[in-house]
Parts: sequence; structure tokens; C-alpha cells
Amino acid sequence: MLETRELTIEFNRSGKTFTAVDKVSMTVTQGSSFGLVGESGSGKSTILRALSGFMRASSGDILVGGSTLKNPEKSFFKQVQMIFQDPFGSLNPAHRIGRILDEPLRLHSFDNRADRIRRALVDVGLPETAQSRYPHELSGGQRQRVAIARALIMEPQVILLDEPTSALDVSVQAEVLNLLDRLRTERGLTYVLVSHDLAVVAHLCDEIGVMQDGKMVETITVDNLLAGEAKHPYTQHLLAIALKNDLVFDENQLSR
Ligand SMILES: Nc1ncnc2c1ncn2[C@@H]1O[C@H](COP(=O)(O)OP(=O)(O)OP(=O)(O)O)[C@@H](O)[C@H]1O
Ligand SMILES: [Mg+2]
Repeated sequence: MLETRELTIEFNRSGKTFTAVDKVSMTVTQGSSFGLVGESGSGKSTILRALSGFMRASSGDILVGGSTLKNPEKSFFKQVQMIFQDPFGSLNPAHRIGRILDEPLRLHSFDNRADRIRRALVDVGLPETAQSRYPHELSGGQRQRVAIARALIMEPQVILLDEPTSALDVSVQAEVLNLLDRLRTERGLTYVLVSHDLAVVAHLCDEIGVMQDGKMVETITVDNLLAGEAKHPYTQHLLAIALKNDLVFDENQLSR
């Protein structure tokens, strides 16, 4: 579904070239969930921005559904949706939820918009009446549900999630993660999820890519990670921190 081949992204920093993403190759099969972990500044969000079509590769290729992503068409932006850490920042505070959900539908000329909005709200566990509320009238968890509804309403195949629950309370985090997990299974969605929290990644992903200084230093399945089969010292280090903080990797419940 998604593939990068030696993806490289460079920025110009006061006249010098800075390589934020350095020859990263990864494959995410349809219906699976790939986690990106690594320290701050290692290039995780930059990879997501490139996959979303909003940032160009300096070199290397991105393939979505087998075709190269060079000059994405409007339909591409329907197929690949992004969910951010801070739903407050990504929802227009001046618009009611109904309008926030209607805008992408109008932009992409969907029919039966009122029905689709109602269904999207129900799908993420919000009442239909949430339509008349403003973002500030909702809780953090409810706002993130709106952001998920806005992504789903486009009927995407791929959802890119950048720290989708790190701004939420731990109890609400588990609810939203379980919702994301269920939606992926029900709809056969493909996820790429960025998180600094290995417990979140272990809960939601099949495979992870470990980023350090713009390079993907290891890819490993979550099963192998938990079986202690990480090879790269940095992956082992991340796992040691997670275990030291007593993160519990549980299939059904996220607890610590
Ligand atoms: N538009 C930009 N111009 C210049 N440098 C950038 C730009 N965007 C990102 N960078 C740099 O690229 C590097 C990778 O940034 P990125 O946001 O991908 O990191 P990250 O892994 O998502 O970090 P975090 O966990 O803190 O979100 C950083 O050093 C960042 O400063
Ligand atoms: Mg980031």
C-alpha cells in the first residue's frame, strides 16, 4: 500500500543542507499498521508529511498503491488522511463540528453530506448533536474523535497518525487507541503511526521502524520486539526505557 525507496528529505538551514530523512526505505502492506518511533528530531513527522503529499522528497521515491507519488492529484488527498497530536490546533475554532465535517465533503463533491456527517459521528462514538458544538465545547478526547471522523469521512485507505493520543489523559488515550484499532480492522485501513511511546506502538502496530538522526536504524515486528529480538542498540535502549517505566504491553488494555 505504501512504500518508500531511499527517501531523502533535505532542508536548507542558513545556507547549509540538513538531511532530516536519510535514505529511508520501508514497506507497509495494505491493512497493516506501521509504527515510527525515535527521539525528537529524528525525522518521524517529516516522513509523514512526505507520505501525505505535502512535502516533496529531495531524492528517492514514495509509492502509494503501487504508483509513484510525484504530483499528487486531488483524489490522492482523499485517499490518504492525516491525524495530528493536537486536535485543538487542527480544528477551526470558529466553526461548528457540522461545518468542520462538511468542508472536506464539499471540497471533494460528495453526495448525501448530511447523512455522511451523522454516520461519521456515530462511527467514532459521538452523538449526532455534537454537530452544533464548537471545538472548545468538547473534551480533548471528543475533539480527537472529531478529527478521526473528519479523516474517516473521506473514506481513505491510508491514515497517517502523528502522536494521536499523546495530548490526552491516559484513560482517554486507551479509549481513542481502541477506537483507532477497531476502525482499522473493520475497514481494512492502513496506518502509519508516529509515537514516542512504545506501549502505544505495541498496542496498535504490527511492525515498527526505529528512527535515529534521520535514518531508519531497524525495522522489527512488535512480536519480535517483545520477544527481545531487537538487534540495534538504540531499539534495545527504547525497549529498556519502556520496561523500566513499567509499561505493560497488553492486547486489550493499555495500562501502566
Ligand atoms: N520545514 C523545515 N525546515 C527546516 N528544518 C526542518 C523543517 N521541518 C523539520 N525540520 C528539521 O528536521 C528534523 C526532523 O524533524 P521532525 O519534525 O521530522 O522530527 P520528529 O522526529 O517528528 O520529532 P518530534 O518527536 O519532536 O516530533 C529536525 O531537526 C527539524 O528541526
Ligand atoms: Mg514530530
